[in-house]
Amino acid sequence: MPKAVLSGVVVMVLTAPCGAVWAGVHDGGVGSCNICHSMHSSSGSGSGQSGGGRALLAGGPASDICLSCHATDSGSVMSADMLAPDAERGPGNFVFLLEDNLNDGPDGISNPITGDAAGHNVRAPSHGLATDGTLIHSPGGNYPASQLKCTSCHDPHGNANYRFLRGPGTRMGSGGNFGYPAPVAVGLDIEFGGAESNANHVAYQSGMSLWCANCHPDYLNDHNDNSSSFEHPTEGTFDSEQILQYNLYNGTMDPAGGLYATAYLADVPFEDAANQIGSLNGPTATSQLMCLSCHRAHASSAPASGRWDFNVSKLVDDGAVSGSHAIANPYLDPGQDPLCWKCHIDGEQ
Ligand code: HEC
Ligand code: HEC
Ligand code: HEC
Ligand code: HEC
Ligand code: HEC
Ligand code: HEC
Repeated sequence: MPKAVLSGVVVMVLTAPCGAVWAGVHDGGVGSCNICHSMHSSSGSGSGQSGGGRALLAGGPASDICLSCHATDSGSVMSADMLAPDAERGPGNFVFLLEDNLNDGPDGISNPITGDAAGHNVRAPSHGLATDGTLIHSPGGNYPASQLKCTSCHDPHGNANYRFLRGPGTRMGSGGNFGYPAPVAVGLDIEFGGAESNANHVAYQSGMSLWCANCHPDYLNDHNDNSSSFEHPTEGTFDSEQILQYNLYNGTMDPAGGLYATAYLADVPFEDAANQIGSLNGPTATSQLMCLSCHRAHASSAPASGRWDFNVSKLVDDGAVSGSHAIANPYLDPGQDPLCWKCHIDGEQ
């Protein structure tokens, strides 16, 4: 197995496909440690980012280790081809960070928006990923962009939370400790769960906006209490108006023909304790708006990691100007409006 030397610590670079071969890697079992940690480190406490004298991993490239198994397998979060990405499964794909232009608005050619804006920039040099070139901190917070990596959000040693997301007390890199708990959700099985669809999707249940607010605290009050000019609530239960609209809306061609029992749109999810992976039900009075109603957690081929491109006036225009991957139009109709309409009868544009 080839090895790469990172900051004086020898780290395995895995080349074999992962999947079942590596089951248990995050379980903390004896013998699993050296999948990611070298037992040959002689540099002791001088090498890692924190003390303890263990063979620790270098800062950013920790993300390369994760991607050695999760790039195109076990969740497929970093596809090989940004124009033909692996099937979406919920969190989005880091490959779009490599785009030279994501802007499909009318000014898309004269005002390119680079892949930096596609989402969370983790440093993973062997996959071409670098720290964000524009944002220094998390907008609406102060988590340093230079520290952002897979383990900023996920615990590499596994835990009981959804997707091993970090919870209260665990280290956030140099940005302090997490305060708000991990969200509650049920995800698609990481090996055999298939692709996202309306009938096969992450079942978001509670707590996502609070969890994002660990690093973006100012967004919890209102979306525009910070660098963003977009005024919008980011959490809280749906009003009766949004419940009615979401359930009736079946696309621009059929704006009032939908039914509660088939209303769920994976592109515009909401939280509810009753959500299940295969559930097609629309929202009820207990359903909640959350950050991931509009954003993907990793990255997308639209600016600000949008679940759809916020700059286009018809979904069919996505990708047309910039040449970036066109996010699939869930209603197929070429006249389809942006997905704000799923919750608002006039699109609120
Ligand atoms: C899937 C890869 C992986 C496996 C397997 C793994 N570690 Fe780690 N470990 C990491 C990474 C990555 C870090 C650096 C954490 C960071 O970047 O925040 C780390 C950090 C640590 C630290 C420093 C303290 C901390 O939590 O940050 C200790 C101690 C440690 N690991 C021990 C172990 C032991 C013991 C085992 C086996 C039971 C093990 N690790 C298995 C990836 C792994
Ligand atoms: C040696 C291959 C390997 C490496 C390296 C690896 N993983 Fe995994 N990971 C797996 C496998 C296999 C699974 C599914 C089985 C399991 O949950 O242990 C998994 C599961 C996961 C899950 C989903 C858990 C669930 O099912 O909800 C997350 C999130 C994850 N890994 C993140 C990471 C991060 C972050 C790193 C880097 C610190 C990393 N992995 C490194 C193989 C790997
Ligand atoms: C800003 C926080 C954040 C960072 C950074 C991050 N993740 Fe995630 N990741 C999440 C969240 C949140 C989810 C669950 C998203 C959802 O279900 O919509 C997730 C989901 C996943 C999954 C499950 C995929 C599936 O099939 O559903 C894997 C695997 C994973 N992340 C690996 C990684 C790896 C590898 C990296 C680094 C290259 C990384 N993550 C960086 C927050 C993050
Ligand atoms: C561990 C800290 C951390 C967590 C948790 C986190 N973020 Fe971020 N986020 C950052 C940092 C740092 C940046 C700026 C650097 C970058 O964009 O890569 C950022 C940038 C963003 C951006 C702007 C991307 C761009 O370049 O325009 C969006 C949108 C975003 N985050 C949404 C979310 C959502 C939604 C969640 C919850 C699922 C979340 N974040 C959780 C740290 C975090
Ligand atoms: C109703 C949809 C919606 C919800 C809910 C939402 N956002 Fe946004 N977000 C947007 C839109 C649209 C933009 C782009 C417009 C802008 O940047 O002003 C954006 C942009 C952003 C940016 C980039 C701003 C920048 O300066 O680059 C961040 C960060 C962000 N959102 C974080 C969040 C977080 C965190 C939450 C949850 C607490 C959240 N958003 C909830 C729609 C939403
Ligand atoms: C998942 C459902 C959902 C989506 C998608 C959504 N909204 Fe909203 N929107 C809401 C909820 C819930 C409220 C709060 C309603 C209330 O309190 O009366 C709201 C409120 C608003 C308001 C009033 C804002 C205020 O502070 O008074 C505007 C304007 C708006 N939305 C525009 C948009 C636009 C534009 C988009 C697309 C970028 C969008 N919404 C996407 C659910 C959604």
